[in-house]
Amino acid sequence: MIFCFSGTGNTRWAAQHLAEATGERLILMTDANVSYSLARDERIGFCFPVHGWQPPRLVRRFIRSLALTSEQALASHYCYALVTCGDSIGLTMEMLNDELAKKGLYAHSTFSLVMPESYVCLPFMYTDTPQREKEKIDRAAIDLDNYARLITGRRKGEHHTVRGFMPWVLSHVIGAYFNSRMITDRKFTVDTEQCIHCGLCAKVCPTGDIRMADNDGGASSPKWMHDGRCTCCLSCYHHCPRHAINYGNITRRRGQYYFGHPQ
Ligand SMILES: Cc1cc2nc3c(=O)[nH]c(=O)nc-3n(C[C@H](O)[C@H](O)[C@H](O)COP(=O)(O)O)c2cc1C
Repeated sequence: MIFCFSGTGNTRWAAQHLAEATGERLILMTDANVSYSLARDERIGFCFPVHGWQPPRLVRRFIRSLALTSEQALASHYCYALVTCGDSIGLTMEMLNDELAKKGLYAHSTFSLVMPESYVCLPFMYTDTPQREKEKIDRAAIDLDNYARLITGRRKGEHHTVRGFMPWVLSHVIGAYFNSRMITDRKFTVDTEQCIHCGLCAKVCPTGDIRMADNDGGASSPKWMHDGRCTCCLSCYHHCPRHAINYGNITRRRGQYYFGHPQ
């Protein structure tokens, strides 16, 4: 069983590959169901992107409400985690294991994949160049094949992660500030001149945070719920065919990316 969260598709691509390699179910963490029964010796995988060098809020909430049942001891199931990132994951795996411990679980092996960057909401953050995106995906495909072999073979004690420089500071200082202050849907705006009312943003939002509602001119345009469910994955921003969605002022001249995005 693979539990997956993905905003712009990087992690979903990786999780799908693992599902094919292991022959096990792929379950989106955004599915309403949180109760699952494990088959005998079924592996338990957690796949998600790093957000501010931590597991995204949505992932933590999902794990907290997850109810797994098994005819054998939960801890005897092989458990692993794969995290995708733009460059580094800090102490994300340690934080994940703290959450898993509350459920009697522990990630026996941990893996990270460096994938195209999706965060563009700070002055120094940009999407990668098309060439860099391709290089990252090509490299990730090779790493993923190796990880899939280790996971299929239930290898424990394999830790292949890029933690970055001063991982404690990244996760517990910068990441802590980032996740407590900068994950909000209140900064999304829509340029009504550019919006073609296609509703794609609402369709691709993994948390169902966008409703198409009539604006003053009578046409429907996106409205964010402001109820704490947004995890700021930026799927809406990156998929908009007219770049009509922005996050504050910073993203107006930034690029867009999602896995499979035409170059
Ligand atoms: C809100 C947010 C925060 C992010 N924080 C980090 C980070 O701390 N370190 C990093 O290397 N990449 C970071 N990224 C980049 C993503 O982790 C990376 O692009 C990931 O592969 C996206 O996966 P997805 O396409 O499955 O959503 C962040 C992206 C977002 C949207």
